[in-house]
Amino acid sequence: MRIGVLGTGIVGMAIADRLVGLGHEVTMGSRSADNPDAAHWARSAGERAGHGTFADAAEAGELLFNCTAGTGSLDALRSAGAELVAGKILVDVANPLDFTGSMPPSLLVSNTDSLGEQIQRAFPEARVVKALNTMRCQIMVDPGRVPGAHDVFVCGDDAAAKRQVREMLTTFGWPDESIVDLGGIGSARGTEAYLLLWLRLWGALGSRDFNIHVAQAP
Ligand SMILES: NC(=O)c1ccc[n+]([C@@H]2O[C@H](COP(=O)([O-])OP(=O)(O)OC[C@H]3O[C@@H](n4cnc5c(N)ncnc54)[C@H](OP(=O)(O)O)[C@@H]3O)[C@@H](O)[C@H]2O)c1
Repeated sequence: MRIGVLGTGIVGMAIADRLVGLGHEVTMGSRSADNPDAAHWARSAGERAGHGTFADAAEAGELLFNCTAGTGSLDALRSAGAELVAGKILVDVANPLDFTGSMPPSLLVSNTDSLGEQIQRAFPEARVVKALNTMRCQIMVDPGRVPGAHDVFVCGDDAAAKRQVREMLTTFGWPDESIVDLGGIGSARGTEAYLLLWLRLWGALGSRDFNIHVAQAP
């Protein structure tokens, strides 16, 4: 499949690497066509890897990943262009973290809204699926690095899009029973706000190499 990964940070790199490893053709997008990190990644990732602007990645991809900073996600997608994301599955991995105040960061949007919903509202023809934003990127693409049962959440308004993202997550190594469907994109409020707890868990455990599991009574 042809996939556009919007974002040149560690998340974009981890997801793009995994996708190329799985045989997909990946175009990594940035604000600039000659982003040195994206250029270096494309050179080292081989012939199925390319790079360009956010618009280039959105145009090339049949399915898109938003791996941009939460503060810039809407601008990144606007610069890609609504017509290039229309009709496509957009896996939103971003978190709306605000690093301008004291640490740990706070949320730019919360309680009654979420970044996932803002993106879906701004791009009504995109098929937004919020996923993978509740763990560090090494675990997103290699869940086996954390032993035992642990979960990934998906939410979005398009059931067929969620099914396809579920299938992709299983190719990343997620067992089907570990993929928890939280319903519509409004549930992004929950997975984004979980970051407030995730950041404290990082502080308490002294490591980011963890994930959570939802245990249910029989
Ligand atoms: N780090 C993790 O393990 C982790 C885990 C879960 C979720 N997340 C979320 O995943 C996303 C990516 O995280 P990251 O650490 O890989 O990278 P990041 O530093 O948060 O974001 C880098 C990307 O955002 C773009 N960007 C930054 N400001 C922008 C703006 N004002 N307008 C448009 N684009 C802008 C950059 O564009 P250029 O390419 O032009 O520089 C770059 O592609 C974030 O939303 C983060 O909260 C991260």
